[in-house]
Amino acid sequence: MTAKRQSVHGQWNSRWTFVLAAAGSAVGLGNIWKFPYIAGENGGGAFVLVYLACICLIGVPIMIAEIMLGRRGRQNPVMTMETLAQEEGTSTNWKYLGLIGVLAGFIIVSYYSVIAGWAVSYVFKSAAGLFVHDDPQVVIGLFGGLVSSAEQLLLWHTIFMIMTILVVVRGVKSGIERAVTLLMPGMFVILLMLVVYAMFQGSFVEGFNFLFSADFSKLTRASVLTAVGHAFFTLSLGMGAIMIYGSYLPANVSIVKAGFMVAAADTVIALLAGLAIFPIVFVNGLDAGSGPGLVFQTLPIAFGQMPGGIVIGTLFFVMLVFAAWTSSISLIEPGITFLIEQKNMGRGKACALIGVSTWLLGIVTVLSFNKWAFTFTFAGEEKTEGMFDILDILTTNIMLPLGGLCIAVFVGWKMSQASSMEELGLRRSNIGYQIWLFLLRFVIPVVLLIIMLKAFGILQGKS
Ligand code: TRP
Repeated sequence: MTAKRQSVHGQWNSRWTFVLAAAGSAVGLGNIWKFPYIAGENGGGAFVLVYLACICLIGVPIMIAEIMLGRRGRQNPVMTMETLAQEEGTSTNWKYLGLIGVLAGFIIVSYYSVIAGWAVSYVFKSAAGLFVHDDPQVVIGLFGGLVSSAEQLLLWHTIFMIMTILVVVRGVKSGIERAVTLLMPGMFVILLMLVVYAMFQGSFVEGFNFLFSADFSKLTRASVLTAVGHAFFTLSLGMGAIMIYGSYLPANVSIVKAGFMVAAADTVIALLAGLAIFPIVFVNGLDAGSGPGLVFQTLPIAFGQMPGGIVIGTLFFVMLVFAAWTSSISLIEPGITFLIEQKNMGRGKACALIGVSTWLLGIVTVLSFNKWAFTFTFAGEEKTEGMFDILDILTTNIMLPLGGLCIAVFVGWKMSQASSMEELGLRRSNIGYQIWLFLLRFVIPVVLLIIMLKAFGILQGKS
């Protein structure tokens, strides 16, 4: 048995800090902005069921595998994969899995910060009472006004990027750990308040039924693929964010339990966000299927019409900012530890370098909503936001599934069962262990391959 590797880059205080940090990574724009609108576009209930199945059958097994790799390697994703591959007597080229992850995080955070910047600006718009207007078109126009102005987008993107760097520069304990222990409970309390508000002031039953009563006639093949992709994105899988957080996990914590807790927290929060949003949308006679504008256009109209709407609307966007903030930290941390450990940089310098370069790359997204906007067709769907859509497709549909596929193949086929059983603290006779291994070996690789082929346009199914 190899001696347990000591973490060179810090450790969480306890299991709870890990769960909070990983849940902080998982809960983000994906839960509060994206999940409600894709559920809305795909007809609600049936889509939600498929999404839940994806979380259980694909998300949880990969989550456990990724935490496990991180804790066993105890370094940044690149060196973790290199060390583990050596230990298992297989090719050290597996380190490129870590590298793809670091790169994917770098690209995602560049556009994530621009969208999170919208949320920051909406905190101020809401507090200033701008949603209170007789003409809904004016409220909708606020969004158009924001995204058509490169200067404004750049300003909010810059602010959010600085917020992110200010946390990671302080390191694991006084930076990330402190941020998540303050922001996550704060975010959750606000969410509960919003759900209670939606119960009393919204069409709660209608919202509830929309989310939970399944009408399978609305389900298409495209929506199934959307659900798989989203399960990945929402759990922060496939790029080393969960791996790096796993590398800070104390040796005596159960990875299986921690993995289940994170996935459960993420799912509950996405569903609660739906229960806060849809009742408010419906009571105002608005449309749940309005796409990406659901949170930034439809919801503000509703807030503008409702009692206490200024306060509730402001709280909503504060919650969205908190959620996005704890996610962007996790997107950027793998790259930073990579520079620290592999290139022997100080944390300050690594943060400055990554901060400035992701900020610069973010400008591509800033401009893709206005000056550089162009339209293209991808896998039969029309995309209107040029480079932003390309970066999103490249990461969500190609790099993350590829990362997940490699994790599944490495853990399922390359790593000895003795190693994984040791790290998870499970025996071969454990039925859960057998199911987990089966999913990683056979089911998950096939599903992820299909997603990627679809992204390359090789599988052109009708949707
Ligand atoms: N899961 C986050 C969300 O739902 C986004 C995120 C953070 C992420 N870290 C990630 C997505 C790593 C993919 C990979 O908003």
